Amino acid sequence: SLHKLVLGIETSCDDTAAAVVDETGNVLGEAIHHQTEVHLKTGGIIPPVAQQLHRENIQRIVQEALSASRICPSELSAIATTIKPGLALSLGVGLSFSLQLVDQFKKPFIPIHHMEAHALTVRLTNKVEFPFLVLLISGGHCLLALARGVSDFLLLGKSLDMAPGDMLDKVARRLSLIRHPECATMSGGRAIEHLAKQGNRFHFDIQPPMQRAKNCDFSFSGLQNITNKIITQKEKEEGIEKGQILSSAADIAAAVQHTTACHIAKRTHRAILFCKQRELLPQSNAVLVVSGGVASNSYIRKALEIVTSETQCTLLCPPPRLCTDNGVMIAWNGIERLRAGLGILHNTEGIRYEPK
Ligand code: KG4
Ligand code: ZN
Repeated sequence: SLHKLVLGIETSCDDTAAAVVDETGNVLGEAIHHQTEVHLKTGGIIPPVAQQLHRENIQRIVQEALSASRICPSELSAIATTIKPGLALSLGVGLSFSLQLVDQFKKPFIPIHHMEAHALTVRLTNKVEFPFLVLLISGGHCLLALARGVSDFLLLGKSLDMAPGDMLDKVARRLSLIRHPECATMSGGRAIEHLAKQGNRFHFDIQPPMQRAKNCDFSFSGLQNITNKIITQKEKEEGIEKGQILSSAADIAAAVQHTTACHIAKRTHRAILFCKQRELLPQSNAVLVVSGGVASNSYIRKALEIVTSETQCTLLCPPPRLCTDNGVMIAWNGIERLRAGLGILHNTEGIRYEPK
């Protein structure tokens, strides 16, 4: 065919996803299966459960993406699959399945780093040249990096403990938001955002962490602890049982969201200044890309808009469906690597997934 075509497969966490993307960024077919509801019930991801669900869905999801694209596997230029980072048991399902396809259809294999894929997604939707700054904020990851090329990243900062989405999920759980009629089917982060709109952020004062740290690292566990203490205190005052929803839940949600936004914005501000001082980024019109599930939070986005407008940067967020885990970003990363001639394997004999 005229264009390069890549099948991308993603199973690193709790989404089974696949997509076929061409060289120009056209998404020919995509499919995804979310495990969120099962994991919400157990109060967190149990790896063997996630693995089982990936096994039950991978064949169908890949088939759906291929069917929608109206191409046959023989037309593919390569198969790209997330190999790290992520849950070992989940990654193994996608890798084993991909290697079967690679053997069957004699296709090159492109191992994909999940964070690289998140970082490059913006180049599918926008015309963005290297270098650009990228902030990845999700349930499993938190990092700031300078993207200098397809597989050339300078890590500027990371979370020293947990990711912001993980913290928001835990606070939401502690607030029993799953029992809240308006939030029951939402992820923790979305539930916090939804409830925060009805709350007053000034009712509780939560200080941002690491105000003196001269780097671009993050920390969210202190925020979680302070918030939990407030919740425990309020539970006593309101005389409610564990599992009931506090009348001050919306105010607490607003406060924790505000401090999370401040912290993320301040660390990002430092990274922009650092890169400009060292001339790693242009003085004006530098690009900040924000991605990951937490990037869909409009309050956090507004905080970042203030930072970028003050530093003459352009803020870019891929559309929400491409910010969370998906197959398109993996396929696109495959296209980027094909074009750059990087990391394309024609022999996968050495690569075998060994379950623990
Ligand atoms: O990127 P993602 O789908 O998966 C990974 O973690 O890699 O991100 C999911 C995370 C969850 O922690 C979820 O609570 C958070 O993103 N999230 C949000 C919002 N929507 C999803 N956090 C804050 N505000 C939101 N609107
Ligand atoms: Zn992700």
